[in-house]
Amino acid sequence: MKVGIIMGSDSDLPVMQEAAKILEQLGVSHEVSIVSAHRTPDRLMAYAKEAAGRGIACIIAGAGGAAHLPGMIASFTHLPVIGVPVQSKTMSGVDSLYSIVQMPPGVPVATVAINGAMNAGILAAQILSTADAELANRVASYKSKMEADVLAKAQSVESDWREHLKQRS
Ligand code: RP5
Repeated sequence: MKVGIIMGSDSDLPVMQEAAKILEQLGVSHEVSIVSAHRTPDRLMAYAKEAAGRGIACIIAGAGGAAHLPGMIASFTHLPVIGVPVQSKTMSGVDSLYSIVQMPPGVPVATVAINGAMNAGILAAQILSTADAELANRVASYKSKMEADVLAKAQSVESDWREHLKQRS
């Protein structure tokens, strides 16, 4: 089973690469492509309808502006869809966020933060991990490492916050 990462334009790639990178780190197979709701509507429908049959278990869809890609993908497939609102130049991504998050009842899109592609990748891994014990262990290790990192920082700040600040900059 793999994760399908799609985006409306190659201009979304600098943001969406974070989903691919964390999936790589967690050892989750994935594919990356461009599917535009408005510029390639036929491709959108084909991608969504064929995804499950191609072994895709979860789709991460990122788009900016009038960001209809995640919602339209969700309307054509039973697979879970995670939407990434990509920050737009004119409206700082609020347009993208509102376009993705306000889905009608019956057609959910799990929406992450503006530019939250990394979290989209982690969430996709967590979804796949419900049927993959080894992946579940890798996700648990990832979270344990994060906890250890924060605890080490807490200790350092408690012992000398000025020095910690100096080291940080
Ligand atoms: C959306 O329009 C894309 O997802 C992108 O965020 C935005 C701008 O696309 P480009 O004009 O940069 O190709 O469909």
